Amino acid sequence: MARVLSPKGRRARLEAVAQLVKPGASTILDLGSGIGAVVPFLAQRVPNAEIVAVDQSAYLISKQKNQRVTTRSTLVLSHIPELPFRPESFDVVVAIQFLHEIFCFLGPDALSSTFERIFSLLSDNGSIVVLDHQNPGSAQIKVKLPEKLQPKLQYFAEHFQPRTITFEELSGGWQGMSMRDFYDFITKIFALGTPLEDEEMNEEHTPFLRTEFVQLLEKTGFRITYDADFTPIELHLKRFKVKVKADSPLPKRHLLVRGEKVC
Ligand SMILES: C[S@@+](CC[C@H](N)C(=O)[O-])C[C@H]1O[C@@H](n2cnc3c(N)ncnc32)[C@H](O)[C@@H]1O
Repeated sequence: MARVLSPKGRRARLEAVAQLVKPGASTILDLGSGIGAVVPFLAQRVPNAEIVAVDQSAYLISKQKNQRVTTRSTLVLSHIPELPFRPESFDVVVAIQFLHEIFCFLGPDALSSTFERIFSLLSDNGSIVVLDHQNPGSAQIKVKLPEKLQPKLQYFAEHFQPRTITFEELSGGWQGMSMRDFYDFITKIFALGTPLEDEEMNEEHTPFLRTEFVQLLEKTGFRITYDADFTPIELHLKRFKVKVKADSPLPKRHLLVRGEKVC
């Protein structure tokens, strides 16, 4: 499970997701809700909507219970693929930093069937709003880490399971590596040496190229009505005092996409 970067970055993301929800929605499903961080933003955007937040973690659902902000929200402990809802139950499904976990832990077929399930859960003209990590591509960049992060990169390369992380020593304290490896490293530093490390070392933050992700939604039958990237990686560079040299501007960290159900 990925922790959010900072209160400011987190707020901007949640607001951006809520803004993509149509004001006329009357039922909203927050899939993989975690502690339900987006629920207050949804409630503010669509005050009369019924919001259902689903997560497989009893711990996160219990945390959510303590901070419920709207009487029109319901918490459900359940998991993909077993969701206790009838087809066409929702006008909007939001999925925030959730689908990469389906892909990484359950595989590509499970991701496709999750899209199909979401499609069937939506009413006619319903929409899906997704914010998730994106693959920034494999272009080589040069990175200069502060001294205390050097051993963390080595540790990360030794422990990250989904693929081999490579970097090379360059002159002047710079290191060469791919953008993709760097994005996974910089967005997972927080977990190293914490109880979250095991899970984070077993999933990528970068499985989705935005174009491929959008194609998969289209293949399911969604018409894409919003497609952008979100969250400058520079927030991480600043926070961890990392310098980067790249031939072109660094892609943002997240994809933010809305698809509408075309019947
Ligand atoms: C990275 S967290 C994101 C939480 C929340 N959407 C947010 O942005 O703060 C991913 C969440 O998806 C949940 N999750 C992962 N696989 C799931 C599944 N198969 N069914 C239901 N929830 C799942 C995890 O328990 C976790 O809370």
